[in-house]
Amino acid sequence: MKTQTLGQFIIEKQADFPFAKGELSRLLRDIGIAAKIVNREVNKAGLVEILGETGTTNIQGERVKKLDVFANDQFIAALSAGGEVCAIASEENDEIIPIDSEVSKSARYVVAMDPLDGSSNIDVNVSVGTIFSIYRRTTLSGPGTVEDFMQRGTEQVAAGYIIYGSSCMLVYTTGKGVNGFTLDPSIGEFCLSHPNMQTPKMGHVYSVNEGNYLHFPEGVKKYIKYCQDEDKATNRPFSSRYIGSGVADIHRNLIVGGIYIYPTTTKSPKGKLRLLYECNPLAFIIEQAGGKATTGGKRIMEVDIKELHQRTPLFCGSSEMVDMAMDFMTKYTKEKV
Ligand code: AHG
Ligand code: MN
Ligand code: MN
Repeated sequence: MKTQTLGQFIIEKQADFPFAKGELSRLLRDIGIAAKIVNREVNKAGLVEILGETGTTNIQGERVKKLDVFANDQFIAALSAGGEVCAIASEENDEIIPIDSEVSKSARYVVAMDPLDGSSNIDVNVSVGTIFSIYRRTTLSGPGTVEDFMQRGTEQVAAGYIIYGSSCMLVYTTGKGVNGFTLDPSIGEFCLSHPNMQTPKMGHVYSVNEGNYLHFPEGVKKYIKYCQDEDKATNRPFSSRYIGSGVADIHRNLIVGGIYIYPTTTKSPKGKLRLLYECNPLAFIIEQAGGKATTGGKRIMEVDIKELHQRTPLFCGSSEMVDMAMDFMTKYTKEKV
């Protein structure tokens, strides 16, 4: 089979957007370059002074690891230099980063990102990831503003994730299916390895942090019990798999079929995950692969966004499994988010 690099694929796909001027292609290429640099550091994390914490906390009150900061800096540098982006929103920055430079004068896009997803796994050699989401700006000119990010997930132009796993993969969608690329370290290029990814309608993996079980809504508790029950006809019990890196858990479930749930808990009544740069991009990819992503009550990509770091519960994965989990929510949980 002929090898197709990410760069070649992006150029070929540009024809899908007859009025595009190639800016989105360049933007995706810039993300690919930053991903390679972050991957290089992740791969030698045990050797260099990059493990551990910086001693500060981010807007979410979470302790910041050095690799979070490194990844954030790399993506910001690549996106600001590229000239296609007028503002960046990141999990690691309280406010948006407006870009005001000569090259970005006519930039038409904004990017929201979680530069390092799965931070708790950095120090222990377990897969981590990056998530990104691209919108067309809504303001007319100058550096971007927070207004440009207050768009529903349905308005995303492109979204993707990078998984720094046993191999490094970049998976993205521009709304015309999902394609996955694996980094070939011998040539330093992402090569098309998973064309037109589709997730099974039904799987037998459920992924949820069961340590929080006592604090889950009744509907989720009942659904988990359903997953654990024995029933030959539906191939239960399902397998429980939870890495704690959303990108890695969702990537596995996308390929083999499964459901990932991060529900509300009594401690986090709005959920833990962030709508703008975690749930919306992952939802876009999952839907494009034939799966579903909801809050447990409604479609993630139709949730109104009011603040940059807004949280939401997430139920996503194989469509039949998400439907079933939502049926349990309807039946047993009255208060909806
Ligand atoms: P981040 O590392 O960017 O803060 O995100 C971690 C997210 C998600 O990727 C993961 O599934 C979940 O939080 C893990 O949270 P728990 O440790 O509470 O299960
Ligand atoms: Mn995250
Ligand atoms: Mn993160």
